[in-house]
Amino acid sequence: MDAILITGASAGIGEAFARQLAAEGHNLVLAARRVERLRELAETLEASFRIQVVSLRCDLTEEKAAATLAAELDQQGIRVSGLINNAGFGDRGRFQDLSLERQLNMIQLNVTALVDLTWRLVPQLTRARRAFIINVASTAAFQAGPNMAIYYATKAFVLSFSEALHEELRGQGVSVSALCPGATASEFAREANMTDTLLFKAGTMDAATVVRKALAGRHRAIVIPGFRNALMVWLGKLSPRLVTRRIAARLQA
Ligand SMILES: NC(=O)c1ccc[n+]([C@@H]2O[C@H](COP(=O)([O-])OP(=O)(O)OC[C@H]3O[C@@H](n4cnc5c(N)ncnc54)[C@H](OP(=O)(O)O)[C@@H]3O)[C@@H](O)[C@H]2O)c1
Repeated sequence: MDAILITGASAGIGEAFARQLAAEGHNLVLAARRVERLRELAETLEASFRIQVVSLRCDLTEEKAAATLAAELDQQGIRVSGLINNAGFGDRGRFQDLSLERQLNMIQLNVTALVDLTWRLVPQLTRARRAFIINVASTAAFQAGPNMAIYYATKAFVLSFSEALHEELRGQGVSVSALCPGATASEFAREANMTDTLLFKAGTMDAATVVRKALAGRHRAIVIPGFRNALMVWLGKLSPRLVTRRIAARLQA
């Protein structure tokens, strides 16, 4: 069967992608570590729409996880026609104070697994009709982020990589989009130790709205959901980098 693969579909933005793509009538493959949650979601979606949903447990911080996931899809005869590289996490704190292992895991998940999966799946995506890749970056991608140095750097990578791939695959029928949400209500803030930051106290978008905008703009190279987020990015581009990184530091002090 043809299906759209969503990483990190057990919560937040990934789960919202699953719900909205199911409503569009797509078969889905949901991947994350909490497979019971995926199975529950899959049951609900299969009961509500005429689609098939496969749940796969995987920890994408494991070195071979992307290869194993791609092999599993192959074995089950699943052709990927859309890829949502969404799984990711952040961690707030000074670089030197945070665990090295956790920061390396963040690079593995937010960057390496995303690249690995994309490289393995592009050949089948180029054979599918109206295929797309959405890589979840962040408004954090546009400036350096003191007190979250590695997270911001991973998202800058995702944005740059996605824009380049957008151009490379344009002629081959695959749209590539970098989704750049700002603060969004999900499990992210708690996981990243950010619930008491100015950034999250200033208000969040809901995941369903972020995903609606992402899917509506899936053929655009960069999607920044929400006027306030787009304005912040635009103002950031007009400002010296010294200013934007100092503001970022204040927002997550
Ligand atoms: N929320 C925000 O404010 C915000 C803003 C900008 C960008 N983003 C980005 O949006 C994406 C989704 O985040 P979210 O806000 O929806 O956060 P979330 O609610 O914490 O969801 C994160 C998802 O990633 C999965 N995940 C985490 N570690 C994983 C691992 N090792 N292997 C496989 N899956 C893993 C989680 O599933 P399991 O725990 O079940 O594995 C979960 O489904 C992330 O890339 C994040 O950086 C979020």
